[in-house]
Amino acid sequence: MCGIVGYVGKREAAPILIDGLYELEYRGYDSVGIAVSNGKELKIIKKTGRVKEIEAARSERGNIGIGHTRWATHGDVTVENAHPHTYKNIALVHNGIVENARALKEELVSNGEIFYSDTDSEVIAHLIADGYRGDLLDAVIGACGKLIGSYALAVYCSDEPDALICARMRSPLIVGNAKDGLVVASDLSAVAEEGATLYSLDDGEFARLEGDEVTVCNAGKNAVVKEAMQFDLEEGKTKLDGYRHFMRKEIDEIPEILHHSMFNFEKNSCYSDFYRVLCQTEYIQIVACGTAYHSGLCAKVAIEKLCRVRVEVVVASEYRYSNPIVPKGTLLIAISQSGETADTLAAVRLAKRKGAYVAAVVNVKYSSLTRLADAVLYTHAGKEVAVAATKSFNAQLAVLYSIVGTLAAIEKKRAPTLRGLAQKTAKTISVSEEVRGWTPYFVGAKSAYFIGRGADMCAALEGSLKLKEISYLPSEGYAAGELKHGTLALIEPGTPVVAIITRRNTAEKTMNAVHEAYSRGARIFLVTSFAEYCEMDEVCASVLIPRCLPEFSPILSVVPLQMLAYYVALARGNDPDKPRNLAKSVTVE
Ligand code: F6R
Repeated sequence: MCGIVGYVGKREAAPILIDGLYELEYRGYDSVGIAVSNGKELKIIKKTGRVKEIEAARSERGNIGIGHTRWATHGDVTVENAHPHTYKNIALVHNGIVENARALKEELVSNGEIFYSDTDSEVIAHLIADGYRGDLLDAVIGACGKLIGSYALAVYCSDEPDALICARMRSPLIVGNAKDGLVVASDLSAVAEEGATLYSLDDGEFARLEGDEVTVCNAGKNAVVKEAMQFDLEEGKTKLDGYRHFMRKEIDEIPEILHHSMFNFEKNSCYSDFYRVLCQTEYIQIVACGTAYHSGLCAKVAIEKLCRVRVEVVVASEYRYSNPIVPKGTLLIAISQSGETADTLAAVRLAKRKGAYVAAVVNVKYSSLTRLADAVLYTHAGKEVAVAATKSFNAQLAVLYSIVGTLAAIEKKRAPTLRGLAQKTAKTISVSEEVRGWTPYFVGAKSAYFIGRGADMCAALEGSLKLKEISYLPSEGYAAGELKHGTLALIEPGTPVVAIITRRNTAEKTMNAVHEAYSRGARIFLVTSFAEYCEMDEVCASVLIPRCLPEFSPILSVVPLQMLAYYVALARGNDPDKPRNLAKSVTVE
């Protein structure tokens, strides 16, 4: 959700900014801009659309600059609303949301100040310029003191043309020394390079990038000593390696990732502390959003069935406003790929205040969630570039199912085995190519439905979300038994219905719903581990996936659904990696 990059040093800034912005494009891609200064003149180039729109700006000369990819929150997608925003001697790029922007703007307008955009970010430029008394750091600290909300800022001032000032509050920001210069970015991948020493700012911290030194301080201007980040250059790489899209590549990465996620589970540094809590817990709450919420639902099915421990799964944005009951001894599991989802972080802060022990199932190292949580269980999915989550979902399941295995042993239940899941996923990926043949039935459909029971229902929810977000085809995921309670009214001749059937003792029940839909003209597609259902007359097409413990089956059954979404999106002419209106990592409420 928006990306920031900045550079000051000996090299030409523009190519560094533009290359960094390509790395950040998955975070936001409705408009883009850079500001580059040669010490005398500040050149600003802004365009709507993607980073390639400003390719020509590569030739701009200057050793200091800031850049931004935008995902609109305040104001339409226009050049005026694109960053950098300027006022008087100030230019800045901003991620996050200023919640009191309207009130601040009204005051500034009543003082005669003129605004050129509808953004909250422009308000910050005004506050800094108005407060500037010869020290940019002071002006930024003063302005931030007036802001309510979240921000990551990189600020340039034409009166101090050799420095950038950066600030962070609830929106990630990394600063550090790179080759021949100093860098700032909202995401490691934009600035990570051989030999770089990078630091992740904490909330309320400010950094000055000048000369060959990065200095970090708090709002009282007390110096803060930072620990350098450990990063793996390979992990941050975003190469298509011959694939057309990251989404398809990321699906192919799943088997190896599952192996890593499971293998490293007990190697997480907090594992023994987490294990101690797990031994005592009688009640688990899970908070997450979107796809991560669905992995939470999958975990609930498996934990309750196999460990007989009560689990409640709550959408994070609801949790935070529900005055949740958090009994003593509650283990709260927060699931997040990015570790920066604002709603999830807010839910975690609330749960902590109420006394819960928080374990994070998270993919991104140094993310905000990793700092808030009492225990961090990494998913080892590597960088996920496609906006639609695929491999991170499976990796979350690998970690959550590892928790299930541990908890089952603690509860003296038969410990379920995860062995073979990675190999079975590889097999599932190869058979899932068959869904390409399903696309003609979905491309022109008005809507589609996904049904299942238990764990299959969780996979249905995720399959439906994937389809709608990248193909823009309205779709619903349902408990198979619920279809007849209302949604059946929407089934018309030709409506695609995908049934997921991996559990023997509810298979016939799901098939009842299939028959009901089929009798109303639905076209039936199956994802199942039982060959006999594939042969049935009602079934238009099917994918036969390997069998595994039914409670763990979403890790396999979701794969053909991810592939279906991908191929339908392609057939409908969409870019599966960058769906409209969406962005990776939703850092605003
Ligand atoms: C869907 C998708 C989103 C995210 C959700 C939470 O494909 O990616 O629904 O799952 O925004 O994001 P994280 O996991 O980063 O907290």
